[in-house]
Formats: sequence, structure tokens, C-alpha cells
Amino acid sequence: MQPIADTNAPFLYCTSTSIMISCALHVKSPEVSYEGTPMRFNYVWLRDHCRSASSYNSATHQRSLDTGSLELTLRPESSAVEDGQLVLTWPGGHVSEFSLGWLAENSYEGRKTVMEQPRILWNANVYQNARISAAKWDKFMSCDSELKKFLQNYLLYGIAFVDDVPATVEATEEVTRRVSLIRETTYGRMWSFTSDFSRGDTAYSQLALDRHTDTSYFQEPCGIQVFHCLRHEGSGGETLLVDGFYAAEKLRQHSPENFELLCRVPIRHEYIENTENHQNHMTGIGPVLNVYPWNSELYMIRYNNYDRSVMNTMPHDIIRRWYVAHRQLTTELRRPENELWVKLTPGKVIFIDNWRVLHGRESFTGLRQLCGCYLTRDDVLSAARCFGLQA
Ligand SMILES: [Fe+2]
Repeated sequence: MQPIADTNAPFLYCTSTSIMISCALHVKSPEVSYEGTPMRFNYVWLRDHCRSASSYNSATHQRSLDTGSLELTLRPESSAVEDGQLVLTWPGGHVSEFSLGWLAENSYEGRKTVMEQPRILWNANVYQNARISAAKWDKFMSCDSELKKFLQNYLLYGIAFVDDVPATVEATEEVTRRVSLIRETTYGRMWSFTSDFSRGDTAYSQLALDRHTDTSYFQEPCGIQVFHCLRHEGSGGETLLVDGFYAAEKLRQHSPENFELLCRVPIRHEYIENTENHQNHMTGIGPVLNVYPWNSELYMIRYNNYDRSVMNTMPHDIIRRWYVAHRQLTTELRRPENELWVKLTPGKVIFIDNWRVLHGRESFTGLRQLCGCYLTRDDVLSAARCFGLQA
């Protein structure tokens, strides 16, 4: 064991020959360097994250320690690195041990350099050249490796397809339930509609729809959108898909200050419906672009010009800048090379990451019957993680 604790000295280093390790104990907080990455820890954080049996239940993966009872001035009596483990002995004799690999993975410095969810951003060419094959109904419903491959594609590209699904609402529900739980909304669990204007929304018409994300008027917009065209006797109606993160990253490259503004300013989206059978008034508040603060990774775009409500959440001097930033994003979203057009036909079910990929459609003629639903995002990501995928 190599003692490293000396609270009288600002830094003491020790090294191990097996892996690149150096550790330093600062008066206020220990600094650990692992494979070249310096990491700084807080003593209360270390005690709080102790994985000993009395502090953490490894069967339920839950904390047993009462964090509220810790002294916030807590310091260990001694610290050492032994066989790749940081060993801290606290006043009273409790010992905490951390592998340096675990510390590296879970430190702020470690997390800020990795993506929470690795993605492949795309324009039409990138997606088409990737030649992603659709899952097939039979194999998808019976084979876990097929489901895993589907989820991996979904995570990377934000869209994924299942082909050869029977053209019924029931089969669409079945294929959906294979992935996750259905999120019930005001539109029902499974919805099925034609262009009959049965709801107070443009979607229930034959009109073209510009690119948008759905349910931006929810405080938590629906995570996944599922579409299945059960029948179309007519022309037009192709589905438009645009990778919102691809467009947003272009904005970040060309105009970081405008990207930042769209991340910072919350706006309001609203859905007001007052028909004979449906009364709704929903409001969702949040920025157009949403990034994790520690690594600046995009995790959600809210973009719906139909449902964007009165702009009353920012002062006058910001409004002008916001419209400029929004226009720049719109320009990126509308570049023809970023548009992926897909003809949805009976049997082809598409899953769309509604926090990332915008959808729209061209106008159409004739009877077109579409069904689908929303999925709960948490459950889709959970299913992916249970397969060992990073999500
Ligand atoms: Fe929509």
C-alpha cells in the first residue's frame, strides 16, 4: 500500500507500475489522475458514493447511507492507493474503497468527454448511404437479437423501420409493444385517423405539414412516434424526415452564440382544442434546443411552428436575436439535402425519435388511413440499456 494522505501537504503523488495512476491529496479535495485524465473529487461526494455494504445496497442498486447526516466538512483520516483502489479511512473507522476505473468513469471530468447517447447525425445522403435494413415482422417479434439491432439503429439514427407488419391497428400495437409501453395521450392509446377533420388539428386533413416535432405543448414531449399507413387510395402523402440534431449542430458550428440562445430561452407551445367531443388546453414550456450542461450534448429539440404560442417569455432586446437564431435553424432544417422522403406503405411501420427527428408530409389526395401511437421514452431507453446498448 502506498500512503498518499497528508493533509498538511497540498499535493502528494504516488504511482503504480501496472496502470497509469497518480494521486494527489489536496487540503480540500483529492485529485486523482487516471490514464492521463486528472479528476478532482469532493470528500462528501466520496463518502456519499461509498459502495460498502452499510452504505449501498448492491442488490437493489440503492443508497442506504443517509446523506443528510454527513458532516459537510468531512475529511478522511487517511487515504491510499492499493492495487488500483483508492482507499479512504474516515473518522470513526469506516473504510471506503473505489476502483480508479470506476472513479474515472463517474467523475465529472470523465463524463464531460463522453456522449450519453452516441449518435450518427445524418442528411439524406448519409442516411441512404448507410443502407440500414428494416427489421422484418416475423424475426422482429420472435428474436431478441433482431430487436437489439433495431434498437441500436433507432438510437444511432433516431429512426427505425419494421417491414411486413400486417396492416391492422392490432398488429401495429403488437409490434409497438415488442419495443416498449405505449404512452396514452388525449389522442388515445393507439390512434387511427383519416383526413376527416375529426380533431382540431391540421394533421387530420389532406394538407401538407411542414417539418415539426409532436406534442411540443407537453411539459415532456412524447419520446417516440410510431406511424403505420394502413391504406392509401390516392396520390402524394410522402413522409418527410429531418434530423433536427444534424441541423442544430450546423447552427452550433456556424453561429455558436445563436445556438446558445436557442438553448437558453424557454418558449411556450400550446394546444387548444374545443370540439364537440374534445376539450383540451395544454401548454409546454422549454427551449427549442436542449443540451446537457456538463457535455453540451443535444438531447431534445422542440420545433413546431404550428403550435408555438405567444412569445412572451423573453425581453424585447432578446426577441430580435431569437428570431435571427430561429431563422438560422429553420434554414438548416429546410435545406433540401437534409430532407429524407419516405413513402409509408401498408406493412411498413416507422419509429421516430420525437426528441430528435422532425417529421412532416406532403399533401395528398384520396382516402389515407394512418394509425400509430406514442411510446414512453424512458421504457424504450430502458429496453435498449437492458440489451447492453448505450442510451
Ligand atoms: Fe406530427
